[in-house]
Amino acid sequence: MKKIREMQAVGDLIPGAPFEEPERQLLFMDKCRELIEEKAKAAGRPLTAAVINFGCQMNARDAEKLRGILKQIGYEIIEEETADFVLYNTCTVRDNANQKVYGRLGYQKTFKKQNPEMIVALCGCMMQEPEVIEKIKKSYRFVDIIFGTHNVYRLAELLYAHLTSKSMIIDVWKDTDSSVETLPVDRKYTFKSGVNIMYGCNNFCSYCIVPYVRGRERSRTPEEILSECRKLADEGIVEVMLLGQNVNSYGKNLENPISFAQLLREVEKIDGIKRIRFMTSHPKDLSDELIQVMKESKKICRHLHLPLQSGSSRILKIMNRRYDKEKYLALAEKIKREIPDIALTTDIIVGFPGETEEDFEETLDVVRKVRYSSAFTFIYSKRTGTPAAAMEDQIPEEVSKERFGRLLALVQEIAAEECVHLTGQVQQVLVETTSNHEGMVSGRLSNNMVVHFPGAEDQIGNFVNVRLDEAKGFYYIGTQVES
Ligand code: 5AD
Ligand code: SF4
Repeated sequence: MKKIREMQAVGDLIPGAPFEEPERQLLFMDKCRELIEEKAKAAGRPLTAAVINFGCQMNARDAEKLRGILKQIGYEIIEEETADFVLYNTCTVRDNANQKVYGRLGYQKTFKKQNPEMIVALCGCMMQEPEVIEKIKKSYRFVDIIFGTHNVYRLAELLYAHLTSKSMIIDVWKDTDSSVETLPVDRKYTFKSGVNIMYGCNNFCSYCIVPYVRGRERSRTPEEILSECRKLADEGIVEVMLLGQNVNSYGKNLENPISFAQLLREVEKIDGIKRIRFMTSHPKDLSDELIQVMKESKKICRHLHLPLQSGSSRILKIMNRRYDKEKYLALAEKIKREIPDIALTTDIIVGFPGETEEDFEETLDVVRKVRYSSAFTFIYSKRTGTPAAAMEDQIPEEVSKERFGRLLALVQEIAAEECVHLTGQVQQVLVETTSNHEGMVSGRLSNNMVVHFPGAEDQIGNFVNVRLDEAKGFYYIGTQVES
């Protein structure tokens, strides 16, 4: 039976390997490359790798880092789960994300029987849960490598450990205060990129597992972030998305504290960067300074994602959100007053323990008042280990589903009405992809809405002016006009 090696207990794999990063990982990449080359020769074809991503923007960015490492090692990156190396970058924010991964592993078992040389690896938030690791050790013995959210950069070292031992390699850290950001990255787009500005979360909303699996809040220094943004601009990136679980508390714990608004001012000064986005803002920390910087900025996009979670002050208190309905509404109103062309989007949970019909009505009331241009709506999912999981009065599924349906209908109705407001206008659009329809391309407005219009593939990455001819609820059909 395959052996299990818990990495932290294993001695040095290559005697004399440097301890400093990134030098250490660069050495492991070289070593893996030699081994993969040999295998490719034996197979008479290049070996392939796929990183299957679940979850949020932070995971999407991690997936780019993982693909960058695998490419450097000599794998050809593909999307199919029949690849020679399949890595699932998991999410655990709601239980259905976990179930999807177990479902995929079920399939992998069959693929692996057909191709025993295949390597299956798991990483991401779900792996930070000890019960998950136990379950995989017991019921999914064919998995080869497991690691968590804190050591994504160690993929080459872990792969080398597996290739040279054939054991199941497990390396999950509880927390970290360091990160390695200078390894190769395989970006999905040539013109836009995510940039991590902070990791982890300190908020402990009572339903949320993120602080447990992503650890405490750690901000990168502004120097590091700005140098990454400058490098991206030199490589042709025109749009950056600054990423953090709660960007509004960025910089507070740095040796030389700096606010998120100040960081934005600095990013704005970088010539090649034309658009700046960020995710996610916690309403409790959104400062007047940030509103001012957004208002004055020529580059910060006219979009703010402001998670509401619930419109009931009573529920918000139990959720530990540290704002109430009135405070949220006042904030949304202030933002709209100061930046009239802004689009607000949100996250909402229905069926939190103890939510009554009256509480739910309060949520609908906020949706009616704020008029979001789109919203992610979720049914509350019980996450073991969070305070809410132990609360009495969990809401029956039928009740949550019925509320979810009503909420979704309202959100869609309002989003469609908001969408109509811009019809006829000419807006600047960053072309992102070819559309599913022949001869059409798709791009985004500053406010994050999508528009499809006749165009060609060579326009991808360019800014063009587009007249928004027709509103389709949550996107537009348009025509390019001369600048
Ligand atoms: N159940 C349902 N939705 C959740 N979210 C976070 N935790 C849970 C949970 N236990 C939602 C929140 C958050 C988004 C990323 O996921 O709305 O903003
Ligand atoms: Fe979860 Fe709340 Fe942190 Fe967002 S702010 S990641 S919802 S604990």
